[in-house]
Amino acid sequence: MNAWPYPNWIAHRGAGKLAPENTLAAFRLGAQHGYRMFECDVKLSADGLPFLLHDATLDRTTNGRGPANTQNWNDLAALDAGSWHSPDFAGESLPSLQTLAEFCLSQGLLLNIEIKPSPGQESQTGTVVANTAACLWQNADVPPLLSSFSPDALAAAKAAQPQLPRGLLLDSLRPGWLDCAIALGCQTVICNHKLWTPRTVSQVHDAGMRALSYTVNDEASAQKLIEMGTDGIITDAVDQFQPDRAGESQTFQARRKTN
Ligand code: G3P
Ligand code: MG
Repeated sequence: MNAWPYPNWIAHRGAGKLAPENTLAAFRLGAQHGYRMFECDVKLSADGLPFLLHDATLDRTTNGRGPANTQNWNDLAALDAGSWHSPDFAGESLPSLQTLAEFCLSQGLLLNIEIKPSPGQESQTGTVVANTAACLWQNADVPPLLSSFSPDALAAAKAAQPQLPRGLLLDSLRPGWLDCAIALGCQTVICNHKLWTPRTVSQVHDAGMRALSYTVNDEASAQKLIEMGTDGIITDAVDQFQPDRAGESQTFQARRKTN
């Protein structure tokens, strides 16, 4: 298997549900909980700028309305992406990928960029995210891990910046899933954690890839995945799980926090 520079524990959308997802406040909080790597969701504004948002629409996590890809970045940047969560986070803004990159690079934090295209923009988003990431991380020791549920987005990312590591996200083991990940030159398959079995873990490892899971929030599930030999967990429960310290990746454990 290729070298794998990433820690075993990855904080989902910054700090799970403890802060407004995909905002800088969330990444700050996740880092305060000891996490050194984060997952985020990235899509394009109407004028083509990559920024953080999970949903196709603005309604759930901002004070904006409607599809996210019909508004220019200047308008998106003025939205309140924190008040929906709680008053403490009022005024928190949507970060651009550049802003998050600068935060991560300045703090020595690693990133898993989930390419989350607005409908119909799969290839365009894969291309822009890969090119932007390659530029932002050009001097970094460890590149961001690009992942997506969309094979088209990953194929575009591969065509644009083949050196950036890729992961295929799977919510079901559809026919041809393993061949798809291999054809996309993925370094990892990132599954809904309920999909992993000893057989699927072996299939992925035998193909030279790592087996990662999302989104694991209880200790029993985490322990089962670790015992099965999987290689990483994306979690919301940053206040429950103690991430392994740098250099201790071989001691992948579901350690509960004591404080
Ligand atoms: O990247 C792992 C996970 O974030 C995928 O699901 O819907 O939370 O983006 P979702
Ligand atoms: Mg995601």
